[in-house]
Amino acid sequence: MNDKSGKIGIFDSGIGGTTVLRELIKALPNEDYIYYGDNGNFPYGSGKTKEDLQKLCERILKFFLMNNCKLVVVACNTASIAAIEYLRENFSLPIIGIIESGVKGAIKNTINKNVAVISTKFTAEAHGYKKQADNLDSDLNITEIACKEFPNMIEKGWETFSNSEELLNKYLSKIPENADTLVLGCTHYPLIRDVIEQHTNIKIVDPAFQAVEEVKRTLKSLNILNTKSEKGKLIFFVTGESKYFQAIVEKILEREIDIYRIPNKKLN
Ligand code: DGL
Repeated sequence: MNDKSGKIGIFDSGIGGTTVLRELIKALPNEDYIYYGDNGNFPYGSGKTKEDLQKLCERILKFFLMNNCKLVVVACNTASIAAIEYLRENFSLPIIGIIESGVKGAIKNTINKNVAVISTKFTAEAHGYKKQADNLDSDLNITEIACKEFPNMIEKGWETFSNSEELLNKYLSKIPENADTLVLGCTHYPLIRDVIEQHTNIKIVDPAFQAVEEVKRTLKSLNILNTKSEKGKLIFFVTGESKYFQAIVEKILEREIDIYRIPNKKLN
């Protein structure tokens, strides 16, 4: 499926990717979107191998193809690192990842080229940002910081955890003194951008904005931008719990959503 009326498929391990979806809807309101929240297999960022993540992502791509998607956004840093090359080798539709967007956002914002990235454990240990930076600007000096508890705390309700202040201090104190830019290298983290800003005064980059530019550029160059004049449709699928997910996403997007729970096959 590659025509103008196809949908944009966007996925994450849970609610994080909705921070990318929110910007996409603002920039491309006439497109139809399918969001796949793989919360039955959450978290992606710790306790899973690259092969596990590739299998999960492959399953999602097949779902998107069955549902007439013309382009896919991997709105998860962890999945982008683990699986984007694999997916591009195995599927012929355009696939936009988020890591390259994060590095491009850093390049645009940093003055002294010292950049910190906060992410999941998987993303930090795979050095996804360092490797991508080497391709785009080898002068960038990247410090990768894994905030391993954050995705779960954000997914479950940040304000319900009493140790959030302590953990924020622990991880944000690892940002080097000379860093002038901080990349939110996990799509869950823009949801706590306010509290991060209260703890640091360096420039913050949310890769979502650059990813949206990449989606626009790709749709235009392939001549598959949706040309209808009415607002696009938005449907959510989750592989796990849906009530709390729905409530939190409606708050993030400031609109009601249609959500369906689909059966989750465990890995292996
Ligand atoms: N939102 C995902 C990311 O950008 C990760 C959350 C998780 O650990 O599942 O990496």
